[in-house]
Amino acid sequence: MSLNLPQRPRRNRKSAALRGFARETHLGPEHFVLPLFLHEGAENQAIDSMPGCFRLSQDGVLREVEAALTEGVTGFDLFPAIAEAQKTSDGREAYNPAGLVPRVIRSIKREFPEALVITDVALDPYNSDGHDGLVKDGKILNDETVEILIMQALCHAEAGADVISPSDMMDGRIGAIRGGLDDQGFTEVSLLSYCVKYASSFYNPFRDALSSSPKFGDKKTYQMDPANVREALRELALDEDEGADIVMVKPAMPFLDVLRVVRDSTALPVAAYQVSGEYAMLKAAALNGWLDERRTVLESLLGIRRAGADMIFTYFARPAARWLKDG
Ligand code: PBG
Repeated sequence: MSLNLPQRPRRNRKSAALRGFARETHLGPEHFVLPLFLHEGAENQAIDSMPGCFRLSQDGVLREVEAALTEGVTGFDLFPAIAEAQKTSDGREAYNPAGLVPRVIRSIKREFPEALVITDVALDPYNSDGHDGLVKDGKILNDETVEILIMQALCHAEAGADVISPSDMMDGRIGAIRGGLDDQGFTEVSLLSYCVKYASSFYNPFRDALSSSPKFGDKKTYQMDPANVREALRELALDEDEGADIVMVKPAMPFLDVLRVVRDSTALPVAAYQVSGEYAMLKAAALNGWLDERRTVLESLLGIRRAGADMIFTYFARPAARWLKDG
């Protein structure tokens, strides 16, 4: 029997060549940013809840950047694991010019000037309270925190960071950091704002990696309520006004609808962060043999691109780049 169908969508799927012409979304290593965990140790150290990821030694970071560059990954985001003894309630290690992050920025830019070095601005790795801002009487202070974030951003800019990425969610920090950088002549340093960052449960493996879990309470008074999307537009409007160059939505997979709305509402490049918990869940299923790692990871990244991300921060950047190259 033959149906009388003038429209047969399957015709556009009948061969690899036709599927190639019909394809709407493209995924390549040029879309990936690789987050890197750093520590002071001499050896790379495995992270239990993120199999395949390591706290890298200072030499380990350079080898990782070198290998990633040959695979086509050009962007790197640095996150330091700071020893408990160096954490203080004022988070002053965050702007120590001899600290781990500025040293690693310098060494990467010296050996691989073409690598795009992105640094995270927030106090949680440095703060004895494990919060992104200063704490007083159980409250996270806004304006006092922003003052320190400016110093942290300047410290990264002086070391040679290409892009500074505030992930703290304090109000007004984008404008204040832009002003602080410009006053010191760092007009070329870009700001990638964690603009739409939710108080998500998917960050736990990252907090294991850095031992940076909040010592009390949660982050709901500064990170966004996962129930909200209109609020994303409010954050977007503010960050655009304050001078953000790129805006991020984070996490990625549970918030693809938000990513689409942000993409459709701004002319700026949009980044998405496939966070540690998204990595852990895909990796755990793959290690159990329940999912095909290569296919599911590439599908997850393609979905994030399709929803509107120009840039994807992902711990799968290197394997994904290799899989894409192998075809
Ligand atoms: C800290 C920061 C976090 C992440 C990036 N920067 C954790 C948090 O906000 O608690 C999470 C990244 C991930 O889970 O992969 N400001």
